[in-house]
Amino acid sequence: MTLRAVVRGVGHHLPARVVPNSEFESRLDTSDEWIRTRTGIERRHFAAEGETTSDLGAAAARAALADAGLAAGDLDALILATSTADLTFPSAATMIQDKIGMTGGFAFDVQAVCAGFVFALANASALISSGQARRVMVVGAETFSRILDFDDRSTCVLFGDGAGAVVLEAAEGEGTARDRGVLATDLHSDGRYRELLYVDGGVSTTRTAGQLRMQGNQVFRHAVEKLAETAHAALEKAGLNSGDVDWIVPHQANLRIITATASRMQVPMERVVVTVQDHGNTSAASIPLALSVGRERGQIKRGDLIVMEAIGGGLTWGSVVLRW
Ligand code: ACO
Repeated sequence: MTLRAVVRGVGHHLPARVVPNSEFESRLDTSDEWIRTRTGIERRHFAAEGETTSDLGAAAARAALADAGLAAGDLDALILATSTADLTFPSAATMIQDKIGMTGGFAFDVQAVCAGFVFALANASALISSGQARRVMVVGAETFSRILDFDDRSTCVLFGDGAGAVVLEAAEGEGTARDRGVLATDLHSDGRYRELLYVDGGVSTTRTAGQLRMQGNQVFRHAVEKLAETAHAALEKAGLNSGDVDWIVPHQANLRIITATASRMQVPMERVVVTVQDHGNTSAASIPLALSVGRERGQIKRGDLIVMEAIGGGLTWGSVVLRW
């Protein structure tokens, strides 16, 4: 008998304000055409003044609970992946815990930038398979609009705000790749690449929140190389290969990275959930958002084999193989 972390519910929430590419044309030397062709992004959502990461995360968590048919009191733990917490402390996870009315258990943030959801999911799966928690809410929520330099055309057009969430529940499996739930995880980081993607402020340096800086083409190069590699590694750990994959649910940063990774994995684009055109890069929120939208579209169904892969600042990167 193997304890598996099985998805029981999924949900997402996007701020009301939709920002099309054309909004950037008036104030920057950029165009809808450049953004579409170089990134695949057509629009993104930006949070309203006063609307925080924990607000978005709580709305997604409530949607996931409703989908699971569970109440907040049924959860043992809540893990939030974010780089844009409401405050320096307490964690935005504890704020979501309060907002959804979860008064027991424990909650904490995971910070692995765009790879955050994959890291959080791996942690949740470990809590469940070791018997420390039976039901874990995993949320990815971000308000990247707060850390963008709106004078830097090479970064501000890429990101958006939003949140997604899944409820994981312990279930007994046979210990084979036919089980539902998390089958394998593969996590990496390498701090030597800090300068490629970072925020130029923080508590113990500038005492400010800072703004995002990125050497986009360098990150692009690492992404294309590392994402297929980690996805293959996780599949191998599960005793599976690319031919077994029903859906790649990738981090949604750039359509060209998504396409190149699918091609390296020899998985056709018809088997890739793509939402980057509507959300932009929502960092740690992008995978749970894509899971929820993919399920809503009727793409993801019970029993499907899903590979999630992501790379972000650090660099951090990794993947999760899960049977829905
Ligand atoms: N509009 C018009 N021109 C632009 C824009 C823009 N918005 N942005 C950049 N350019 C210009 C550049 O200035 C450059 O001009 P130059 O040749 O005159 O110097 C030219 O376009 C090419 O720039 P590159 O950066 O080489 O363009 P590239 O094709 O690499 O695309 C992009 C840039 C979209 C940022 C891409 O590199 C990318 O997606 N990188 C990866 C991002 C990513 O995956 N991040 C990971 C996660 S994010 C996280 O963890 C927070």
